[in-house]
Amino acid sequence: MDLGISGKKALVCGASQGLGFACAQSLVNEGVEVVIAARTWENLQKAQLFLEREQGQWAENNNSKAFGVHVVCVDVTSPKGREQIKSNHPEIDILVTNAGGPASGDFRNWQRGDWLEALDANMLSPIELIKAYLDPMMAKGFGRIINITSSAVKSPLHALGLSNGARAGLTGFVAGLARQSVSRGVTINNLLPGTFETQRLKANFTHQAKLQGLPYETVIQERLDKHPAKRFGQAHELGQACAFLCGIHSGYINGQNVLIDGGSFLGS
Ligand SMILES: NC(=O)c1ccc[n+]([C@@H]2O[C@H](COP(=O)([O-])OP(=O)(O)OC[C@H]3O[C@@H](n4cnc5c(N)ncnc54)[C@H](OP(=O)(O)O)[C@@H]3O)[C@@H](O)[C@H]2O)c1
Repeated sequence: MDLGISGKKALVCGASQGLGFACAQSLVNEGVEVVIAARTWENLQKAQLFLEREQGQWAENNNSKAFGVHVVCVDVTSPKGREQIKSNHPEIDILVTNAGGPASGDFRNWQRGDWLEALDANMLSPIELIKAYLDPMMAKGFGRIINITSSAVKSPLHALGLSNGARAGLTGFVAGLARQSVSRGVTINNLLPGTFETQRLKANFTHQAKLQGLPYETVIQERLDKHPAKRFGQAHELGQACAFLCGIHSGYINGQNVLIDGGSFLGS
């Protein structure tokens, strides 16, 4: 299916690896010009090289020009980082917000600073980015905003209280805003990953293994045994869903929290 977004420009945050990278890759394969942001220069460069090769292939197959893949090496949770993105790329058609998730732990040990950090990363930064780009999208009559949140929004995880709290705040905010932007062609949706095989997942399992005093492999196997799909998600599966939601045919999908978890959440 042609998603009808070739030639559009997208900013994908947290895109040097994992789920953000997969979203950028799927968009590149739709002929979208992408800007990828993350904090580690080396990883960004690797991602850029990979994506430029894919873009070259797309351009060749479609008899079109390659746009290049832009990189911005910044912390998207900092005002300075977001300003740098905006000044380099003042107009975009597609925004994918994403950053690392907060650490797991016991709420008794969290200080105010821990909460502010989590809110900055998983609630306020996406809201600030939306604020920076929404009005120009509405003025043009087309825009797609996707926030990568977590299945924890629907099914909170005990040890991830910081994530549960911050993401719930973003979800509530977006629910209201999406109803104000859709009549001007801008949809806002959240993608809720379950367990996807990425660096983040490995870090979470390492922490759990330590807490439980079990080998890493045992913790993973226990989780897989309980999972209806008996496997973890692959990043490209979320990336493709992201591209679909960004397509022209998805203009009536708005304000949704789309779970991508292989049926792990027990609800309909
Ligand atoms: N994987 C899962 O199973 C899963 C499940 C539920 C929710 N999630 C959530 O989905 C999001 C992405 O997860 P992932 O698994 O793709 O993680 P990942 O593999 O660790 O990748 C995170 C990406 O975001 C970048 N990043 C992190 N903090 C950033 C910041 N402050 N500014 C700019 N870039 C930043 C990282 O690069 P740098 O570190 O170089 O900046 C990297 O490119 C996270 O919020 C995570 O909590 C993931």
